[in-house]
Amino acid sequence: MKSILITGGAGFIGSHVARLFVKKYPEYKIYNLDKLTYAGNLENISDIEDFKNYRFIKGDICDTDLLLRVFNKYKFDSIIHLAAESHVDRSITNPLDFVNTNVIGTVNLLNQFKETHKNNFDGKLFYHVSTDEVYGSLGESGFFTEETSYDPNSPYSASKASSDHFVRAYGETYGLPYIISNCSNNYGPHQFPEKLLPLFIHNIINSRPLPVYGDGTYTRDWLYVKDHACAIDILFHSNKIGHTYNIGGFNEWKNIDLVKELCAQMDIKLKKKESSSESLIEFVKDRPGHDLRYAIDASKIKKDLNWKPSVNFKKGLSLTIDWYLNNKNWLKNVTSGEYRNYYKKQYSA
Ligand code: NAD
Ligand code: DAU
Repeated sequence: MKSILITGGAGFIGSHVARLFVKKYPEYKIYNLDKLTYAGNLENISDIEDFKNYRFIKGDICDTDLLLRVFNKYKFDSIIHLAAESHVDRSITNPLDFVNTNVIGTVNLLNQFKETHKNNFDGKLFYHVSTDEVYGSLGESGFFTEETSYDPNSPYSASKASSDHFVRAYGETYGLPYIISNCSNNYGPHQFPEKLLPLFIHNIINSRPLPVYGDGTYTRDWLYVKDHACAIDILFHSNKIGHTYNIGGFNEWKNIDLVKELCAQMDIKLKKKESSSESLIEFVKDRPGHDLRYAIDASKIKKDLNWKPSVNFKKGLSLTIDWYLNNKNWLKNVTSGEYRNYYKKQYSA
């Protein structure tokens, strides 16, 4: 039985990956290691907790003793590494948290994986999940390809770029088999409401202001989270050792246009008759070092592995809004306590 460690499987993307693997591959044993930070939530994966081929381990990837213990016990054949501090705004206020988890935590995992398998890496894989933000910012035109130079601008993207370099360096130096993928902005169910779409959905539900940074002309490429999980599944089984793949939605939106589309869909779903949710939009102080535009050229994964996004954006957005409207308790639970302090600090004038 293949033994696979998923890190960060109680977070947004990790929970979709864990669910996909547990349900699709009953012949694999899936271990989900997660520290359960503010972004980790066992409710995200409650539907798989009783599956025989699944086990949750609460733990920190910075804890080398814990890693030693669990690697010795479960002898993971492969790792799908998603655990990270993932929010750019938090990286601006607390950069060291990002260095610790994203850089040191990744190197700890690499070390433990190397020590466990250094005499025989056959059939083993360290799959590192990364971001398009490592490439920095595009101007009005052009796309990030796998050959684009790294040029990170935020403490978050610098820490992810560093972790990518360490993974590649372990491949070169120790022959550790790896795949890296760099993906664009994900959206969908279970995303913590600090990121643009769930934050704005939550605020519209509660008739609170929608804080658009700067002039709202910043552009992102959006991908439905289940399409990302599917790309990870395909890459994991591809044997493309030592390769990097870009994953994207072929779906660019200026923030302000995206927010207006969200408002329009929510007005219909909430049966708003009098004023549109658009009246909640407020242009606020910009994010320092705000990257103007991300856009992924995902032709390599399309050509090599026949992956392309399957979920049309307006449909994916509608499914996402429905999920939040139908899971108000989930939203309520994650927006109590620490969230309120974060919100006050981040958005007070
Ligand atoms: P998330 O913040 O929703 O979840 C991160 C998870 O990691 C949480 O469950 C958290 O508890 C866990 N974690 C954090 N620190 C840990 C530690 N020290 N030890 C163990 N677990 C820890 O993040 P996400 O949006 O699901 O992103 C997952 C991965 O995908 C990240 O590596 C991120 O860089 C990458 N990524 C995200 C996006 C996106 O749009 N969200 C796009 C491309 C790549
Ligand atoms: O591109 C992939 C990256 O996408 C991932 O690696 C990150 O983990 C993920 O957080 C995301 O980063 P962004 O910074 O692009 O996502 P965020 O949702 O924070 O912001 C999206 C855009 O919306 C960005 O231009 C900033 C803007 N924004 C965001 C927030 C939270 C606002 O205008 N107002 C806000 O309140």
